[in-house]
Amino acid sequence: MLEKFTNWKVKNEENTQSVLTNTENLPKHIAIIMDGNGRWAKKRGLPRIAGHREGMSVINKIVKKANDIGIETLTLYAFSTENWKRPKNEVDFLLRLPERFLSIELPKLVKENVKVRLMGSKENLPAHTLKAVETAINETKDNTGLVLNFALNYGSRFEIVKAVQQVVKDVEDGKLTVDEIMEETIEQYLMTDTLRDPDLLIRTSGEIRLSNFMLWQLAYTEFWFTDVLWPDFTEEHFLEAIQVYQRRARRYGGV
Ligand code: IPE
Ligand code: IPE
Ligand code: MG
Repeated sequence: MLEKFTNWKVKNEENTQSVLTNTENLPKHIAIIMDGNGRWAKKRGLPRIAGHREGMSVINKIVKKANDIGIETLTLYAFSTENWKRPKNEVDFLLRLPERFLSIELPKLVKENVKVRLMGSKENLPAHTLKAVETAINETKDNTGLVLNFALNYGSRFEIVKAVQQVVKDVEDGKLTVDEIMEETIEQYLMTDTLRDPDLLIRTSGEIRLSNFMLWQLAYTEFWFTDVLWPDFTEEHFLEAIQVYQRRARRYGGV
């Protein structure tokens, strides 16, 4: 019995190792709340920023895997509008990460056909952060592979407020009438614009909440939560989430 169980486990691990046995019904858009960097560092007696540095090195592995298996869009929650509440040194470090990441990864992203995109408020972002991201957007603008959507200085309520303000302005300017405002109209005013809604949401670190992330867009998304801290997250965990997604029945209110 014990042997049987062990065999099953080994087999199961093999199945989730770097290969997807079933390439049908893949989620087209995956969004990830990359959480747990601070706790990862704390467990090791390190400063929180060490966790962020380690977490950054996980990103390129997941981006590569997502691109390789043909995911269309990967949205990564990197910095929320609420993260400004953190100590200044941590905020400064977090807002240096896009530069650090892109200085190493941008040539690879260009070569691997990844298209970088920003979702968030440009207001308040330091010039160096914005410059790094805008350079990446520009250099990858003709790429046709994975869309890598960085949620940076992003908050869903802020996004909705901005959308409402713009809708009202456009009504005032006569570009839109009240009767023309449909769900599709609202979608166009959100920061996701033409991106489809996420099919799968992953959150690491055991927190079961959205933390102001894509409240409109996640209305019918499948959720997958794991206790794994973001710096410990691997391609195998990523594929496990996808395999769980593939077994879910999405009904959208139907039968
Ligand atoms: C996620 O890790 C990274 C960001 C929120 C920017 P945390 O820094 O939130 O890590 P914990 O939740 O404190 O462990
Ligand atoms: C959400 O994580 C934001 C990002 C991962 C960028 P937080 O760690 O900020 O969320 P809370 O504070 O635990 O809800
Ligand atoms: Mg956190």
